[in-house]
Amino acid sequence: MEDRLVTTHKLEAERNAEQSLRPFTLDEYIGQEPMKESLRICIEAATRRGDPLDHAIFYGPPGLGKTTIAHIIARHMGGTIRPTSGLVLNHAGDLAAILTNLQAHDVLFIDEIHRLPGAVEEALYPAMEDFQIDLVIGQGPAARAMKLDLPPFTLVGATTKAGSLTSPLRERFGLVYRLDFYTPEELDIIVTRSAGLLNVVIEPEGATEIGKRARGTPRIANRLIKRVRDFADVKADGIVTRQVAQDALRWLGVDDMGFDEMDRKILLAILEKFHGGPVGVEALAAAVQEEKATLEDVYEPFLLQSGYLDRTPRGRQLTDKALKHFGVSKEGKEKGLFG
Ligand code: ADE
Repeated sequence: MEDRLVTTHKLEAERNAEQSLRPFTLDEYIGQEPMKESLRICIEAATRRGDPLDHAIFYGPPGLGKTTIAHIIARHMGGTIRPTSGLVLNHAGDLAAILTNLQAHDVLFIDEIHRLPGAVEEALYPAMEDFQIDLVIGQGPAARAMKLDLPPFTLVGATTKAGSLTSPLRERFGLVYRLDFYTPEELDIIVTRSAGLLNVVIEPEGATEIGKRARGTPRIANRLIKRVRDFADVKADGIVTRQVAQDALRWLGVDDMGFDEMDRKILLAILEKFHGGPVGVEALAAAVQEEKATLEDVYEPFLLQSGYLDRTPRGRQLTDKALKHFGVSKEGKEKGLFG
Protein backbone atom coordinates (compact mmCIF):
# COMPACT_ATOMS: atom_id res chain seq x y z
CA MET A 1 0.00 0.00 0.00
CA GLU A 2 2.77 2.38 1.00
CA ASP A 3 4.60 1.52 -2.19
CA ARG A 4 1.53 2.42 -4.16
CA LEU A 5 1.24 5.71 -2.30
CA VAL A 6 4.83 6.56 -3.08
CA THR A 7 4.19 5.68 -6.70
CA THR A 8 1.11 7.89 -6.76
CA HIS A 9 3.07 10.77 -5.28
CA LYS A 10 5.83 10.23 -7.76
CA LEU A 11 3.33 10.27 -10.60
CA GLU A 12 1.76 13.43 -9.24
CA ALA A 13 5.15 15.11 -8.95
CA GLU A 14 6.06 14.05 -12.44
CA ARG A 15 2.75 15.33 -13.75
CA ASN A 16 3.21 18.69 -12.05
CA ALA A 17 6.79 19.01 -13.18
CA GLU A 18 5.87 18.44 -16.78
CA GLN A 19 2.70 20.49 -16.44
CA SER A 20 1.41 18.02 -18.88
CA LEU A 21 -1.95 16.91 -20.08
CA ARG A 22 -0.35 13.81 -21.48
CA PRO A 23 -1.66 10.45 -20.36
CA PHE A 24 0.83 8.50 -18.23
CA THR A 25 -0.27 4.93 -18.87
CA LEU A 26 -1.81 2.94 -21.70
CA ASP A 27 -5.06 2.81 -19.72
CA GLU A 28 -5.17 6.61 -19.55
CA TYR A 29 -4.42 6.91 -23.26
CA ILE A 30 -7.62 7.47 -25.23
CA GLY A 31 -8.07 6.22 -28.81
CA GLN A 32 -5.70 4.33 -31.16
CA GLU A 33 -7.26 1.09 -29.91
CA PRO A 34 -5.49 -1.39 -32.25
CA MET A 35 -2.10 0.11 -31.37
CA LYS A 36 -2.81 0.02 -27.63
CA GLU A 37 -4.03 -3.57 -27.74
CA SER A 38 -0.95 -4.70 -29.62
CA LEU A 39 1.38 -2.79 -27.31
CA ARG A 40 -0.28 -4.14 -24.17
CA ILE A 41 0.40 -7.70 -25.30
CA CYS A 42 3.95 -7.06 -26.51
CA ILE A 43 4.89 -5.10 -23.36
CA GLU A 44 3.51 -7.79 -21.09
CA ALA A 45 5.26 -10.59 -23.03
CA ALA A 46 8.61 -8.75 -23.01
CA THR A 47 8.28 -7.94 -19.31
CA ARG A 48 7.51 -11.58 -18.44
CA ARG A 49 10.59 -12.72 -20.34
CA GLY A 50 12.73 -9.95 -18.85
CA ASP A 51 13.51 -8.73 -22.37
CA PRO A 52 13.36 -5.18 -23.66
CA LEU A 53 10.39 -4.39 -25.89
CA ASP A 54 11.21 -4.81 -29.59
CA HIS A 55 12.20 -1.60 -31.36
CA ALA A 56 9.07 0.29 -32.37
CA ILE A 57 8.29 2.98 -34.89
CA PHE A 58 5.26 5.27 -34.90
CA TYR A 59 4.23 7.29 -37.90
CA GLY A 60 1.47 9.75 -38.67
CA PRO A 61 0.69 13.46 -38.73
CA PRO A 62 1.98 15.70 -35.92
CA GLY A 63 0.10 16.01 -32.63
CA LEU A 64 -1.41 12.52 -32.55
CA GLY A 65 0.65 11.25 -29.60
CA LYS A 66 3.86 9.68 -30.91
CA THR A 67 6.04 11.25 -28.21
CA THR A 68 3.42 10.51 -25.57
CA ILE A 69 3.41 6.83 -26.44
CA ALA A 70 7.23 6.70 -26.24
CA HIS A 71 7.04 8.05 -22.66
CA ILE A 72 4.35 5.52 -21.82
CA ILE A 73 6.45 2.63 -23.18
CA ALA A 74 9.43 3.70 -21.06
CA ARG A 75 7.20 3.89 -18.00
CA HIS A 76 5.66 0.46 -18.61
CA MET A 77 9.09 -1.09 -19.24
CA GLY A 78 10.49 0.41 -16.02
CA GLY A 79 13.15 2.40 -17.87
CA THR A 80 13.96 6.04 -18.51
CA ILE A 81 13.25 7.78 -21.77
CA ARG A 82 16.23 9.39 -23.53
CA PRO A 83 14.71 11.72 -26.08
CA THR A 84 16.57 13.04 -29.09
CA SER A 85 15.83 13.91 -32.70
CA GLY A 86 17.03 13.07 -36.18
CA LEU A 87 17.59 16.81 -36.58
CA VAL A 88 20.27 17.08 -33.88
CA LEU A 89 22.13 13.77 -34.25
CA ASN A 90 24.60 14.98 -36.86
CA HIS A 91 27.51 12.62 -36.25
CA ALA A 92 27.85 8.93 -35.42
CA GLY A 93 29.81 10.09 -32.32
CA ASP A 94 26.73 11.95 -30.99
CA LEU A 95 24.76 8.73 -31.22
CA ALA A 96 27.55 6.68 -29.59
CA ALA A 97 27.60 9.10 -26.64
CA ILE A 98 23.89 8.59 -26.06
CA LEU A 99 23.96 4.83 -26.61
CA THR A 100 26.85 4.23 -24.20
CA ASN A 101 24.99 6.10 -21.46
CA LEU A 102 21.83 3.97 -21.71
CA GLN A 103 20.77 1.68 -18.88
CA ALA A 104 19.00 -1.63 -19.32
CA HIS A 105 15.33 -1.16 -20.34
CA ASP A 106 15.75 2.49 -21.25
CA VAL A 107 13.91 3.84 -24.26
CA LEU A 108 15.95 5.77 -26.80
CA PHE A 109 13.39 8.00 -28.48
CA ILE A 110 14.40 9.47 -31.84
CA ASP A 111 11.83 11.95 -33.12
CA GLU A 112 11.88 12.83 -36.84
CA ILE A 113 13.94 9.68 -37.34
CA HIS A 114 13.68 10.04 -41.13
CA ARG A 115 16.02 13.05 -40.83
CA LEU A 116 18.99 11.04 -39.48
CA PRO A 117 22.10 11.46 -41.63
CA GLY A 118 23.13 8.26 -43.44
CA ALA A 119 26.27 7.69 -41.35
CA VAL A 120 24.31 7.96 -38.09
CA GLU A 121 21.63 5.65 -39.40
CA GLU A 122 24.25 3.05 -40.29
CA ALA A 123 25.79 3.30 -36.83
CA LEU A 124 22.35 2.54 -35.45
CA TYR A 125 21.96 -0.80 -37.25
CA PRO A 126 24.31 -2.94 -35.06
CA ALA A 127 22.95 -1.16 -31.97
CA MET A 128 19.43 -2.21 -32.93
CA GLU A 129 20.29 -5.71 -34.07
CA ASP A 130 22.98 -6.89 -31.67
CA PHE A 131 23.08 -4.24 -28.92
CA GLN A 132 26.60 -3.38 -30.03
CA ILE A 133 28.31 -0.35 -31.51
CA ASP A 134 31.45 -0.15 -33.58
CA LEU A 135 33.89 2.41 -32.24
CA VAL A 136 37.17 3.64 -33.63
CA ILE A 137 39.70 4.40 -30.90
CA GLY A 138 42.71 6.60 -31.63
CA GLN A 139 43.76 8.19 -34.87
CA GLY A 140 45.94 7.51 -37.86
CA PRO A 141 47.97 4.26 -38.00
CA ALA A 142 47.29 3.59 -34.33
CA ALA A 143 43.50 3.68 -34.83
CA ARG A 144 41.75 0.51 -33.73
CA ALA A 145 38.21 -0.61 -34.35
CA MET A 146 36.39 -2.17 -31.46
CA LYS A 147 32.92 -3.33 -30.60
CA LEU A 148 31.23 -2.16 -27.45
CA ASP A 149 28.31 -3.98 -25.86
CA LEU A 150 25.24 -1.96 -25.03
CA PRO A 151 22.59 -2.68 -22.42
CA PRO A 152 19.32 -4.10 -23.77
CA PHE A 153 17.27 -1.07 -24.74
CA THR A 154 14.31 -0.22 -26.94
CA LEU A 155 14.58 2.21 -29.79
CA VAL A 156 11.36 4.11 -30.36
CA GLY A 157 11.29 6.11 -33.57
CA ALA A 158 8.71 8.64 -34.66
CA THR A 159 8.18 10.17 -38.06
CA THR A 160 5.61 12.18 -39.94
CA LYS A 161 7.02 10.79 -43.17
CA ALA A 162 7.01 6.99 -43.23
CA GLY A 163 7.77 7.12 -46.94
CA SER A 164 11.10 8.83 -46.28
CA LEU A 165 12.51 6.00 -44.17
CA THR A 166 15.14 3.87 -45.84
CA SER A 167 14.11 0.23 -46.07
CA PRO A 168 17.12 -1.09 -44.05
CA LEU A 169 16.03 1.13 -41.14
CA ARG A 170 12.32 0.33 -41.45
CA GLU A 171 13.03 -3.39 -41.56
CA ARG A 172 14.90 -3.27 -38.26
CA PHE A 173 11.79 -2.29 -36.32
CA GLY A 174 9.85 -5.25 -34.95
CA LEU A 175 6.80 -3.08 -34.24
CA VAL A 176 5.37 -0.61 -36.74
CA TYR A 177 2.31 1.49 -35.90
CA ARG A 178 0.42 4.11 -37.83
CA LEU A 179 -1.42 6.66 -35.74
CA ASP A 180 -4.75 7.76 -37.17
CA PHE A 181 -6.71 10.94 -36.64
CA TYR A 182 -8.97 10.72 -33.58
CA THR A 183 -12.75 10.63 -33.84
CA PRO A 184 -14.76 13.60 -32.50
CA GLU A 185 -16.03 11.27 -29.74
CA GLU A 186 -12.48 10.39 -28.65
CA LEU A 187 -11.50 14.05 -28.70
CA ASP A 188 -14.57 14.88 -26.64
CA ILE A 189 -13.28 12.49 -23.94
CA ILE A 190 -9.75 13.96 -24.19
CA VAL A 191 -11.12 17.51 -23.84
CA THR A 192 -13.18 16.50 -20.80
CA ARG A 193 -10.15 14.81 -19.22
CA SER A 194 -7.88 17.79 -19.91
CA ALA A 195 -10.49 20.23 -18.59
CA GLY A 196 -10.55 18.19 -15.38
CA LEU A 197 -6.75 18.34 -15.04
CA LEU A 198 -6.80 22.10 -15.69
CA ASN A 199 -9.73 22.69 -13.29
CA VAL A 200 -11.82 24.13 -16.09
CA VAL A 201 -15.58 23.87 -15.57
CA ILE A 202 -16.96 22.53 -18.83
CA GLU A 203 -20.42 21.33 -19.78
CA PRO A 204 -20.62 18.14 -21.89
CA GLU A 205 -21.91 20.15 -24.89
CA GLY A 206 -18.92 22.49 -24.59
CA ALA A 207 -16.50 19.54 -24.71
CA THR A 208 -18.35 18.07 -27.69
CA GLU A 209 -18.06 21.34 -29.57
CA ILE A 210 -14.29 21.53 -29.03
CA GLY A 211 -13.82 17.83 -29.79
CA LYS A 212 -15.62 18.22 -33.12
CA ARG A 213 -13.38 21.04 -34.22
CA ALA A 214 -9.93 19.88 -33.13
CA ARG A 215 -8.77 18.62 -36.55
CA GLY A 216 -8.75 15.04 -35.25
CA THR A 217 -5.70 15.96 -33.16
CA PRO A 218 -5.29 15.80 -29.35
CA ARG A 219 -2.56 18.44 -29.35
CA ILE A 220 -4.97 20.86 -31.00
CA ALA A 221 -7.80 19.85 -28.65
CA ASN A 222 -5.57 20.61 -25.67
CA ARG A 223 -4.50 23.93 -27.13
CA LEU A 224 -8.11 24.87 -27.84
CA ILE A 225 -9.30 24.03 -24.32
CA LYS A 226 -6.67 26.37 -22.84
CA ARG A 227 -7.67 29.26 -25.12
CA VAL A 228 -11.39 28.58 -24.63
CA ARG A 229 -10.75 28.70 -20.89
CA ASP A 230 -9.14 32.16 -21.29
CA PHE A 231 -12.15 33.31 -23.28
CA ALA A 232 -14.62 31.85 -20.75
CA ASP A 233 -12.79 33.52 -17.84
CA VAL A 234 -12.77 36.96 -19.45
CA LYS A 235 -15.90 37.05 -21.61
CA ALA A 236 -18.22 34.73 -19.64
CA ASP A 237 -18.43 33.42 -16.09
CA GLY A 238 -15.66 30.86 -16.53
CA ILE A 239 -18.02 28.02 -17.42
CA VAL A 240 -17.52 26.49 -20.86
CA THR A 241 -21.03 25.96 -22.20
CA ARG A 242 -21.74 25.11 -25.85
CA GLN A 243 -22.37 28.79 -26.57
CA VAL A 244 -19.16 29.92 -24.86
CA ALA A 245 -17.20 27.24 -26.78
CA GLN A 246 -18.76 28.34 -30.08
CA ASP A 247 -18.03 32.02 -29.43
CA ALA A 248 -14.48 31.23 -28.33
CA LEU A 249 -13.79 29.08 -31.39
CA ARG A 250 -15.06 31.82 -33.68
CA TRP A 251 -12.76 34.26 -31.87
CA LEU A 252 -9.91 31.78 -32.48
CA GLY A 253 -10.68 31.60 -36.20
CA VAL A 254 -11.69 27.93 -36.07
CA ASP A 255 -14.70 27.18 -38.30
CA ASP A 256 -17.42 24.52 -38.07
CA MET A 257 -15.23 21.96 -39.83
CA GLY A 258 -12.35 22.62 -37.46
CA PHE A 259 -10.40 24.32 -40.26
CA ASP A 260 -8.14 27.11 -39.13
CA GLU A 261 -6.95 30.12 -41.10
CA MET A 262 -4.19 28.23 -42.88
CA ASP A 263 -6.51 25.39 -43.92
CA ARG A 264 -8.90 27.92 -45.42
CA LYS A 265 -6.06 29.80 -47.07
CA ILE A 266 -4.90 26.59 -48.77
CA LEU A 267 -8.38 25.59 -49.96
CA LEU A 268 -9.16 29.12 -51.15
CA ALA A 269 -5.83 29.39 -52.97
CA ILE A 270 -6.60 26.21 -54.92
CA LEU A 271 -10.07 27.52 -55.68
CA GLU A 272 -9.24 31.08 -56.62
CA LYS A 273 -5.72 30.95 -57.98
CA PHE A 274 -5.70 27.50 -59.56
CA HIS A 275 -9.32 27.04 -60.67
CA GLY A 276 -9.93 24.28 -58.13
CA GLY A 277 -6.80 22.37 -59.20
CA PRO A 278 -4.99 20.24 -59.99
CA VAL A 279 -2.01 22.26 -58.84
CA GLY A 280 1.53 21.11 -58.06
CA VAL A 281 2.52 21.21 -54.41
CA GLU A 282 5.39 23.65 -55.05
CA ALA A 283 3.11 26.17 -56.71
CA LEU A 284 0.56 25.78 -53.94
CA ALA A 285 3.21 26.22 -51.22
CA ALA A 286 4.41 29.40 -52.92
CA ALA A 287 0.85 30.71 -53.19
CA VAL A 288 0.19 30.30 -49.46
CA GLN A 289 3.75 31.29 -48.46
CA GLU A 290 4.40 28.11 -46.56
CA GLU A 291 7.18 25.50 -46.72
CA LYS A 292 6.35 22.59 -49.00
CA ALA A 293 7.18 20.10 -46.22
CA THR A 294 4.87 21.86 -43.73
CA LEU A 295 2.10 21.87 -46.28
CA GLU A 296 2.57 18.15 -46.93
CA ASP A 297 3.13 16.96 -43.36
CA VAL A 298 1.03 19.32 -41.25
CA TYR A 299 -1.89 20.64 -43.30
CA GLU A 300 -2.64 18.20 -46.08
CA PRO A 301 -3.25 15.02 -44.05
CA PHE A 302 -6.33 16.46 -42.35
CA LEU A 303 -7.66 18.10 -45.52
CA LEU A 304 -7.29 14.76 -47.32
CA GLN A 305 -8.86 12.81 -44.48
CA SER A 306 -11.82 15.16 -44.20
CA GLY A 307 -12.52 14.74 -47.91
CA TYR A 308 -11.87 18.32 -49.04
CA LEU A 309 -8.67 17.68 -50.92
CA ASP A 310 -7.54 15.04 -53.39
CA ARG A 311 -4.01 14.12 -54.32
CA THR A 312 -3.90 13.25 -58.00
CA PRO A 313 -0.93 12.42 -60.24
CA ARG A 314 -1.27 15.95 -61.67
CA GLY A 315 -1.35 17.67 -58.29
CA ARG A 316 -3.72 18.77 -55.54
CA GLN A 317 -7.36 19.20 -56.36
CA LEU A 318 -10.47 20.32 -54.48
CA THR A 319 -13.14 17.64 -54.13
CA ASP A 320 -16.83 18.09 -54.96
CA LYS A 321 -17.43 18.38 -51.22
CA ALA A 322 -15.03 21.33 -51.04
CA LEU A 323 -16.57 22.99 -54.10
CA LYS A 324 -19.99 22.63 -52.51
CA HIS A 325 -18.67 24.08 -49.24
CA PHE A 326 -17.54 27.17 -51.13
CA GLY A 327 -20.81 27.35 -53.08
CA VAL A 328 -19.21 26.52 -56.42
CA SER A 329 -20.81 23.95 -58.70
CA LYS A 330 -18.77 21.36 -60.57
CA GLU A 331 -20.18 22.68 -63.84
CA GLY A 332 -19.14 26.17 -62.86
CA LYS A 333 -15.62 24.94 -62.24
CA GLU A 334 -15.53 23.09 -65.55
CA LYS A 335 -16.70 26.16 -67.42
CA GLY A 336 -13.94 28.13 -65.71
CA LEU A 337 -16.34 30.52 -64.05
CA PHE A 338 -13.81 31.82 -61.60
CA GLY A 339 -10.21 32.87 -61.47
N1 ADE B 1 -3.82 13.92 -24.34
C1 ADE B 1 -3.20 13.95 -25.51
N2 ADE B 1 -3.38 12.80 -26.17
C2 ADE B 1 -4.15 12.02 -25.40
C3 ADE B 1 -4.68 10.72 -25.55
N3 ADE B 1 -4.48 9.99 -26.63
N4 ADE B 1 -5.41 10.24 -24.54
C4 ADE B 1 -5.61 10.97 -23.45
N5 ADE B 1 -5.15 12.20 -23.27
C5 ADE B 1 -4.42 12.73 -24.23
